[in-house]
Amino acid sequence: MTAARTPTAAPRTDLELFATDALLDPFPHYARLRDLGPVVHLDEYDLYGLFRYEQVRAALVDWETFSSAQGIAMNPTANELSADSVLSVDPPRQRTLRKVFDDALRPKYVRKVAGDIERLAGELVDDLVRRGEFDGVADFACKLPVEIVMDLIGFPRDEHRADILRWALGAFNFMGPPGERQESTFPDVQALMQYLVTEATPDRLLPGSFGQIVWEAADRGEITGNEALMAMSAYACAGLDTTIAGVAGTLWLLALHPDQWRAVRQDPQLVPGAFLEGVRLETPLQAFSRVTTHDVEIDGVAIPRGARVLLSYGSANRDERNYPDPDRFDVRRNPVDTLGFGVGVHTCPGRTLASMEAHALFGALAERAVTLELAGEPVRSPNHVTRSLDRLPVRVS
Ligand code: HEM
Repeated sequence: MTAARTPTAAPRTDLELFATDALLDPFPHYARLRDLGPVVHLDEYDLYGLFRYEQVRAALVDWETFSSAQGIAMNPTANELSADSVLSVDPPRQRTLRKVFDDALRPKYVRKVAGDIERLAGELVDDLVRRGEFDGVADFACKLPVEIVMDLIGFPRDEHRADILRWALGAFNFMGPPGERQESTFPDVQALMQYLVTEATPDRLLPGSFGQIVWEAADRGEITGNEALMAMSAYACAGLDTTIAGVAGTLWLLALHPDQWRAVRQDPQLVPGAFLEGVRLETPLQAFSRVTTHDVEIDGVAIPRGARVLLSYGSANRDERNYPDPDRFDVRRNPVDTLGFGVGVHTCPGRTLASMEAHALFGALAERAVTLELAGEPVRSPNHVTRSLDRLPVRVS
């Protein structure tokens, strides 16, 4: 008779993954955590963590075990505040909330604005090439999200458009483990909610916008008023800074690797793959969490019921077990299986729109710029969830 195999406890680490240095350069830490085992326990934050590609992907797909219903942030306050968000519910309710996004963001609908996106990208890049030097964040990556996507969402065309990006980055910081950086960003969360309640009201949203689809669903009683408000918050947080981070991150990688830029310029068909590779390596949303609904065993390692588990998209995307030579930027890799947009029931509904923006921008740049290089040191601020650049001085000719 063979004795039943007992799962082992997860290896523990005191690594401070959310300390400033680690947030600015998490990749060596991710590699150590992947090597520790298929599951690790981050003692500092009392979090379990999955850092390998296969395990992160499997957990994202298995929403019945790895539930979003207790929130996906790393602290209880943020999770309570986002209780009615599409990101913080499981099916079947998630399917109802998700429908308001799918109704707006389905490829056949967003392709209607493809012409506007291409035209604006062309005009923008014409101007930047004339200038020669510019900021890859403010002048290149921000324009389409601010001018086209904010119109699509329906936010009023007023002075708050610049604030929304700042509040959203604050809201992502607020999702981190309890502490100074997390607490100090509460005013951003309050300001965003205040704006949604008093300024971006249903009667002031632009006609025919995504926001109107949200509030019409509330009027029909399909979703509650608070769920509609949280859907607007999801648009503000998930729909803008993410794209800006992905586009600026890809531009940075292309400027750092002249051979890869040359390849894209010579064959613009490589643009979609180059953007996916940028999203894989830079992973605009680095991690969210889930809570286990029962005791789980992953490759012989136990996670108890009710544990909060960090799912690191950023580490999974650099896992050498899935991507050969994972830290290399290779525009021909075409990593269609990247977890940068998530996978499973919460997979990003904005992927087509974000990709259209990126393809238009890099396509226009590949047509017009021969050389692309850094013109100064990029500036990056630490964030608990996002990986993004604040400034990226570049020069083109
Ligand atoms: C490069 C750009 C983008 C990246 C990297 C990105 C990334 C992601 C990821 C990783 C998730 C999954 C969250 C989870 O697993 O819990 C997600 C969900 C989501 N994204 Fe995106 N996103 C991008 C652009 C957009 C855009 C343009 C929009 C809308 C205009 C959008 C709206 C959403 C929404 C509403 C969700 C929640 C879906 C749900 O919970 O069912 N995203 N995104």
